[in-house]
Amino acid sequence: MEVIISNTYEELSKAAARTVAKTLNSKPNAVLGLATGSTPLGLYKELVRMHREEGLDFSRVTTFNLDEYVGLRKDHPQSYHFFMHENLFKHINIPPQNLYIPSGTTDNYEAFCDWYERRIRECGGIDLQVLGIGSDGHIGFNEPSSSLGSRTRIKTLTKQTIDDNARFFEEGEKVPAYAITMGVGTILEAKRIMLLASGEAKAEAVARAIEGPLTSMNTASALQRHERVIFYLDKAAAGKLEMREYFEWIQAKMPGGSS
Ligand code: PGA
Repeated sequence: MEVIISNTYEELSKAAARTVAKTLNSKPNAVLGLATGSTPLGLYKELVRMHREEGLDFSRVTTFNLDEYVGLRKDHPQSYHFFMHENLFKHINIPPQNLYIPSGTTDNYEAFCDWYERRIRECGGIDLQVLGIGSDGHIGFNEPSSSLGSRTRIKTLTKQTIDDNARFFEEGEKVPAYAITMGVGTILEAKRIMLLASGEAKAEAVARAIEGPLTSMNTASALQRHERVIFYLDKAAAGKLEMREYFEWIQAKMPGGSS
């Protein structure tokens, strides 16, 4: 496990974008797993800049998003479909047929989830998975108590997640209580994983994920079992790590950070 601590959110986003760019430069038809939320916005902004100014090419890339709210149509401003198009897809040269996001409005969720898992496999599996982390330690919408072997399925959101995400919705508008999400088992099959976290509100969840016991009560802790995972943190998100000095010491010895 690698832990890269940046001074600012902007630096963290750029470091993460460099890793995505390296992946695409070495494998132009890479399959990316993508996340939504506030945290990856800086990463997406930097990828858009790299595309515009440095010619970073997405023409052969395929993407699979982690999750979507159940009940929201693709054009709902809070749907993750809408988020991805607004913040990334419409600004880069990725073919629309290469974009996969769970459907929030299928009439057969079970069949849809099976199909989603199958499509990931048929595309060769995810080369690089981008993750955020919830203040309750969730990855995707794998809330505390989710099986660490879980696959794509419908999940009931916790009150904490609903409250955390209420900021994105209009006042009085209900945050959906259910989401369709890749499972922890699905995520762990990605060849490489990067988790981004910023701000003090994430410090506890991050410390439990990296240094706590492996537990379904913090599903990000399952990443401890993965062979190639990088945590990109800013100082505030790293604030509760007991091993922080050690991570910073390693980083100082490896200028340029991770490969
Ligand atoms: P955030 O969400 O980036 O908006 O904080 C992260 C998450 O819930 O996974």
